[in-house]
Amino acid sequence: MYCTRPVTKDIVWIGGNDRRLALFENLFPIPRGVSYNSYLILDEKTALMDTVDASIGRQFFENIEQTLQGRPLDYLIVNHMEPDHCANIEELTRRYPDMKIVGNRRTIELIKQFYDFEVQPHVHCVEEGDTLCLGTHTLQFIFAPMVHWPEVMMAYETSEHILFSADAFGSFGAVGGTIFQDELHFDRDWLDDARRYYSNIVGKYGPQVQAVLKKASALDIKAICPLHGPVWRGDLGYFLNKYDLWSRYEPEDRGVAIFYGSMYGDTANAADLLAAQLAEAGVKDVRVYDVSCTHVSYLIAEAFRCSHLVFAAPTYNNGLYPAMETLLLDMKALNLQNRTVGLIENGSWAPQSGRLMREMLGQMKDMHILETSVTIKSSLKKDQFSDMQGLCRQIVDTL
Ligand code: FEO
Repeated sequence: MYCTRPVTKDIVWIGGNDRRLALFENLFPIPRGVSYNSYLILDEKTALMDTVDASIGRQFFENIEQTLQGRPLDYLIVNHMEPDHCANIEELTRRYPDMKIVGNRRTIELIKQFYDFEVQPHVHCVEEGDTLCLGTHTLQFIFAPMVHWPEVMMAYETSEHILFSADAFGSFGAVGGTIFQDELHFDRDWLDDARRYYSNIVGKYGPQVQAVLKKASALDIKAICPLHGPVWRGDLGYFLNKYDLWSRYEPEDRGVAIFYGSMYGDTANAADLLAAQLAEAGVKDVRVYDVSCTHVSYLIAEAFRCSHLVFAAPTYNNGLYPAMETLLLDMKALNLQNRTVGLIENGSWAPQSGRLMREMLGQMKDMHILETSVTIKSSLKKDQFSDMQGLCRQIVDTL
């Protein structure tokens, strides 16, 4: 049975949800599932804005058939060639043999790399700024290279002022009927997943996102239709502001995230004590994470959110505790920068983790490491309480 929703009179959401997939990209936990959004524009010509993942292909084709009501499909616009959005291209060419596939040079190359069907007869290649007239609706193509793949482009519909934004402005999480941001409590129920999606998938490409935001600022945008998560038909400034902060690597909140690794609870004890001292000093936004227990994608999202980060880790095999090393490597890979950092190291006979964390943070941009750091030898002792207070004070003074 079809399941669609109108976005406007002539534009229909025809996507779907996958709540069975455990790991998006086989990497990121998605306990709330994920939506794959696709949109169909009905005008003198019909245009499909991207397809969906193979997992929901049956729903997708029922939605298309219901929406087209026997009309042919004239265009498939491929804004993004990652398989979670293009798994159905070949099947579409079988069902709609006259359909043109609209993409840029790199899109077409990627289609040929991923699939073996005869692409060339369907190709309609566009350049930046080109337009495609569908009747009363016209699509203008805006390239968004490396947000987060090289071929990515957005399509701006000029009559209804709608931006089809590819992965940008997307989120993890299945949409349950309520597909518009004004039908749900985004700040309460979606922001954390939207941040986790952005920081882990697009986070590395801040300068490229800034370039796209600059292009978008020249457009009169009334709605944003991303490929995942809710559709934005109001309050656009809220989400655009988040994207601006995230892509400039500016923290969203003046808050402290304490990340610790701990084999037997002693480094965890130091992390909890610091959190208690911060709370006692009046800091309200303090969160503590065990890097062995919380998936690194959540830790990355918190590192993007908070202004202050504390890393507390044991020395392990004369190196850094592996789960902490993974977090720091991921932070570097995702280009995270511009944070204030506190360090707590532990080592029973030759503490190395502080030096190693310092070295890894030194490879990231604008990481300001606080002067006071704490060294624990096996377990924290009473006479180190003042060391911990010193670190706490420096954090409070810089918040
Ligand atoms: Fe949702 Fe980059 O694919």
